[in-house]
Amino acid sequence: MAVLRMRLKVVVMVMMVNLFIFILVSRHGSRDKNDRLKVIVSKSFWNKMVPSAAYWNRQQQVLDFWNNPILSNHSQGGLPDWLNGTQVDLDPCRPNFRVSTQVKDYNSLPERFKDFLLYMRCRSYPILVDQPDICKKPPFLLLAVKSLALHFDRRQAIRQSWGRAGVVGNRTVVTVFLLGQATAGDDYPDVSEMLSYESARHRDILQWDYRDSFFNLTIKEVLFLDWIQTRCPDASFIFKGDDDVFVNTYSMLSFLDHLSEPKATDLFVGDVITNAGPHRDKKVKYFIPESMYTGSYPPYAGGGGYLYSRSVAARLHAASHRVALYPIDDVYTGMCLLKVGLAPEKHKGFRTFNIEEKYRNNPCAYKSLMLVHPRTPQEMMRIWSWLSQPDLSCQ
Ligand SMILES: *[C@@H]1O[C@H](CO)[C@@H](O)[C@H](O)[C@H]1NC(C)=O
Ligand SMILES: *[C@@H]1O[C@H](CO)[C@@H](O)[C@H](O)[C@H]1NC(C)=O
Ligand SMILES: *[C@@H]1O[C@H](CO)[C@@H](O)[C@H](O)[C@H]1NC(C)=O
Ligand SMILES: *[C@@H]1O[C@H](CO)[C@@H](O)[C@H](O)[C@H]1NC(C)=O
Repeated sequence: MAVLRMRLKVVVMVMMVNLFIFILVSRHGSRDKNDRLKVIVSKSFWNKMVPSAAYWNRQQQVLDFWNNPILSNHSQGGLPDWLNGTQVDLDPCRPNFRVSTQVKDYNSLPERFKDFLLYMRCRSYPILVDQPDICKKPPFLLLAVKSLALHFDRRQAIRQSWGRAGVVGNRTVVTVFLLGQATAGDDYPDVSEMLSYESARHRDILQWDYRDSFFNLTIKEVLFLDWIQTRCPDASFIFKGDDDVFVNTYSMLSFLDHLSEPKATDLFVGDVITNAGPHRDKKVKYFIPESMYTGSYPPYAGGGGYLYSRSVAARLHAASHRVALYPIDDVYTGMCLLKVGLAPEKHKGFRTFNIEEKYRNNPCAYKSLMLVHPRTPQEMMRIWSWLSQPDLSCQ
């Protein structure tokens, strides 16, 4: 008993001393010679900021600096050298040729990295095909499918199966397809007339004027987040995924119907990957050189498809303006989630790495899943017809 009381006394004393030191230090730090109040953060603090050797990380440091109201307000004349000049942003959509000297192995990087780096600061591209009234009656679930102009068959299969817009169960569903430009420069055949026919016929195409490439999928993400806020801010939930996945819309709607209020507000679920980092093997599609990014990746949901709430869409949208574009879109979304303090949640119903082969032709295997990747248009049609049978009974 006595020992315990002694310990308590010591702890209290240590705390008092700490508090005293804190008051002393903060009083000292918060007043300058003329005894005027000033912020605790002093000039020397950000002068000690060390720029990262990796280009993306450095761009993020710059963004963090200018988005920090305390640092940026009090930095006049006290900018560290490496930040000098970053505040005068030239047109961010003009190619930024300075990257060729700022990324140390720029000249030896594969072409797609050069293209990405040159346009990394540009986030706004004109919309070519819009559907301004598609959410006039706000849907319960907005299905947004990343597609390529050429993929007519995939889009049609989605329309006739899991992306059938209208009322499913008793919930309203709206489907849109997200497209960029697939041009002759990238050896794509010209399908623009077929696309405008399709768009007039189905009124579910969104297309922006930028080059549709793997490294530009992040632009698709950012433009879609903008679009939600202007055209569909009241959709309760949003699914965003690829055009080669099968979505069990029925089980997705039932999952959403059974969420508790707080769960529904902060919802972000998918096939979450944790403890991942950039691939350093040049032959891998996801290769990222060290001169571009260092560190590990935040938890993120595989880009095959993920599901989130209206509230999370708004928060992601705000965050996207404070996170430097990263060439891998699902990792980028993970970075934005981290910025707003949300963690994506893993759900067993999202199978971006497919299901066991022996179950692939079993209708019941799909009954409780929400997403399976990959599936061809024909497979989508087949699985959907299985699931739509009223007499499908599974254990
Ligand atoms: C920063 O400066 C702007 C205007 O110059 C002012 O409105 C804002 O309150 C300042 N913020 C801080 C945190 O000092
Ligand atoms: C910042 O850069 C400008 C020109 O780019 C130069 O004139 C100025 O001296 C630099 N300031 C500092 C503090 O290095
Ligand atoms: C209809 O909606 C309610 C919630 O409003 C839900 O509980 C119910 O299960 C839905 N019915 C069907 C058939 O989906
Ligand atoms: C992304 O799109 C822009 C605008 O069309 C283009 O200039 C750039 O080359 C594209 N980047 C990549 C990596 O394809």
